[in-house]
Amino acid sequence: MRVAVVSVKGGVGKTTTAVYLAAVAARGRRAVTLVDADPQGSAAVWLESWPIDNIEVFEAPSERLLRKALAQDDEHSVLIIDTPPASERLISASLAQADVVVVPTRIGGVEGPRLTSTLEMVPDGIPAGIVVSSARTWTRDFREAVDAWAAESVPVWGVVPERVGIAAGPDADLHIDGLDAAADVWQRVTRAARRR
Ligand SMILES: Nc1ncnc2c1ncn2[C@@H]1O[C@H](COP(=O)(O)OP(=O)(O)OP(=O)(O)O)[C@@H](O)[C@H]1O
Ligand SMILES: [Mg+2]
Repeated sequence: MRVAVVSVKGGVGKTTTAVYLAAVAARGRRAVTLVDADPQGSAAVWLESWPIDNIEVFEAPSERLLRKALAQDDEHSVLIIDTPPASERLISASLAQADVVVVPTRIGGVEGPRLTSTLEMVPDGIPAGIVVSSARTWTRDFREAVDAWAAESVPVWGVVPERVGIAAGPDADLHIDGLDAAADVWQRVTRAARRR
């Protein structure tokens, strides 16, 4: 199963989502490969400082390396692909190979159009859901955004609350609230993959 974590917008929580999803997927004995297609390598650096059992990192900052990484797939493995924000080629290459797509987003002004453009890039027939990262769930902005997505039938697969311990990234252990939220998202991802 190949899960692409994608957004054309930077700083929306792609790497954080990819690492937490990989951690949750790896609990289930499956061999998980975190494919880091971001030339910045932030997921790779994270896993270097905090190795997690059953997770291997494959750095793939070019289309050629990405193809190589994706070719390693077999029916038992899980590949989670962290993508860079700006490279349309790497984003498209990841989307073309994905079984399921996760689109992290934040709540706020410029996020909406970027979210729409990202969802429009997902090829027909590939299930995709959004994950709200760093969410302030008590705010009116949050409620209005969730209502608007419901009205437009945009599937929301998870909400990750804003936490200092999650913002710490590789400087701290994975945060329980982030893991709980990722577990919910992972359920949606596996269900969507099974339905395909
Ligand atoms: N739930 C959260 N609570 C607090 N901070 C968060 C949360 N999720 C992500 N962040 C912070 O938001 C910032 C952006 O997150 P992240 O690096 O995962 O985004 P990204 O989409 O991968 O960015 P880029 O486009 O640069 O690759 C980071 O500083 C991260 O620690
Ligand atoms: Mg990133």
